Amino acid sequence: MKYILDTSGEALLKGARAGVYLLKPNLGELATLCGVETISFLELESIAQTFLKNNPCEVLVVSLGPQGAVMLTAQSVDYISAPIVYQKSTIGAGDSMVAGMVHALAQGKSLSEMVKYGVACGTAATMTDGTQLCKRKDVEELNDWISSNSNTSQKIKINA
Ligand SMILES: Nc1ncnc2c1ncn2[C@@H]1O[C@H](COP(=O)(O)OP(=O)(O)OP(=O)(O)O)[C@@H](O)[C@H]1O
Ligand SMILES: [Mg+2]
Repeated sequence: MKYILDTSGEALLKGARAGVYLLKPNLGELATLCGVETISFLELESIAQTFLKNNPCEVLVVSLGPQGAVMLTAQSVDYISAPIVYQKSTIGAGDSMVAGMVHALAQGKSLSEMVKYGVACGTAATMTDGTQLCKRKDVEELNDWISSNSNTSQKIKINA
């Protein structure tokens, strides 16, 4: 059984301590988890790596809104840029991202494919009005674009 957690406040703190396979905080939620006020992009990677070392969590996906996401494991750091789209409403972007990642994992996709698909679903959700869900056609187009574009960068930690 693999637990995936996307929540905030006290539930996030307790859940992260209890242990999960994958955690999906946004920057504010990661700051809560790490007991700091704010996190800038410059310090994000080191803060996230310290969090991973000190908590029972295998995969940390920090969502960055229009900037996409960064995924960290003990071995790797992947940045995935979100495509620029005509945005209607960001309501449900985070939920759609998590749903997309769960779907990809259930299909046996790799972590790298999973986070790209999650970003595609999150971004697709911003292309529809209000609380409307994302459209499959948008998801597939964005996922193809993200997967074929050299807009992702990966770092492998040598002495992790
Ligand atoms: N303005 C945007 N343009 C493009 N993609 C976006 C935008 N906002 C969000 N996304 C997509 O949705 C994903 C999740 O968004 P975000 O980081 O805002 O999650 P969140 O703060 O958890 O949102 P929520 O309020 O739904 O819980 C991002 O990684 C990105 O792929
Ligand atoms: Mg959220």
